[in-house]
Amino acid sequence: MKAIVVGQDQRHSLRWQEVPQPVPAPDEVLINTRATAVNRADLLQRRGRYAPPPGASEVLGLEVAGEVVQCGEQVSGWSVGDRVCALLAGGGYAQYVVCPADLLLRVPGNLSFAEAAALPEALYTSYLNLYVEARLRPGEHALIHAGASGIGTVAIQLCAALGSPVYATASAGKLPRLLQLGATAVFDREQADFVAGVQALTEGRGVDVILDPVGASYLARNLTALNIGGRLVVIGLLGGAKAELPLGEVLTRRLRIIGSVLRGRSVAEKAELTRELERRVWPLVASGKLRAVIDRVFSITEAEAAHSLLQSNETTGKLVLTVPR
Ligand SMILES: NC(=O)c1ccc[n+]([C@@H]2O[C@H](COP(=O)([O-])OP(=O)(O)OC[C@H]3O[C@@H](n4cnc5c(N)ncnc54)[C@H](OP(=O)(O)O)[C@@H]3O)[C@@H](O)[C@H]2O)c1
Repeated sequence: MKAIVVGQDQRHSLRWQEVPQPVPAPDEVLINTRATAVNRADLLQRRGRYAPPPGASEVLGLEVAGEVVQCGEQVSGWSVGDRVCALLAGGGYAQYVVCPADLLLRVPGNLSFAEAAALPEALYTSYLNLYVEARLRPGEHALIHAGASGIGTVAIQLCAALGSPVYATASAGKLPRLLQLGATAVFDREQADFVAGVQALTEGRGVDVILDPVGASYLARNLTALNIGGRLVVIGLLGGAKAELPLGEVLTRRLRIIGSVLRGRSVAEKAELTRELERRVWPLVASGKLRAVIDRVFSITEAEAAHSLLQSNETTGKLVLTVPR
């Protein structure tokens, strides 16, 4: 089969070339990849700064949509020809990938493979961090930073669909799209003071949950923007990893700061999350209420161009890579 291989050269160039095809374990299926999608983590992994967890494929790619072409002998409930999508610990930038059967989601008939491939990473990350880690309840207010990111565009829709007023930050040109996705109010990350903004919108209380991929440069403002008992979930470090923590504020206002990564979690934990997504979120996808926002679709042979575009910070939503049969 062919897969994207990262070159040893200075540019870490991406080449579509022959590699050995993976073989499914007894509890896994083999998927013929029809589409995958680009994540920030891929940019880091390509440069040797984000190693795959032990046992995962070295090939880039954290999500996939395609057809089941082989089932391991312990797999039940799935058959050759099923249209599936899945969260992966790696291996998506390839014609074939193996995946534990417990992590498969059935692609509804109204979704193309490109649309389905754009969902898993954003959906799992948003749901896990907002609803499992931060326990966001209906009626509570949420703030999503980098609201126009692949993760952010799904997180906004999820909050709106599950009953939370949701605010978002992004650069100015992307804000109107975030309102269309269900944000109650949006803030230009370069010009507006999101702390004053959310306080005005919550009668001075602040928001209950913040989903934050920015980290250090937002830490102090995030704490001020939280309601008493508020939860800050740090999922990325786009704005740096080191900051001063005003513990007095954390203590007196009973704040909780949660750090969270998805990729390194066990298959059992991801399987549990898959069942919860199937029950609570997949009906929204099947009914068309929640869709991945796709900025652009590339062929996998153009993966380099897709990485450059994601790195430019100019995208809204996901970049998808289609894979030839
Ligand atoms: N912990 C986890 O389990 C997990 C899982 C998935 C992703 N993530 C993290 O979530 C983040 C989003 O991932 P993604 O793939 O969805 O990203 P993406 O689609 O590439 O979007 C990233 C966006 O963030 C904004 N941004 C960039 N640098 C920033 C900065 N210094 N301050 C504020 N905003 C900045 C830019 O939009 P604007 O210019 O419009 O603001 C950029 O387009 C990444 O940090 C990723 O590592 C974490």
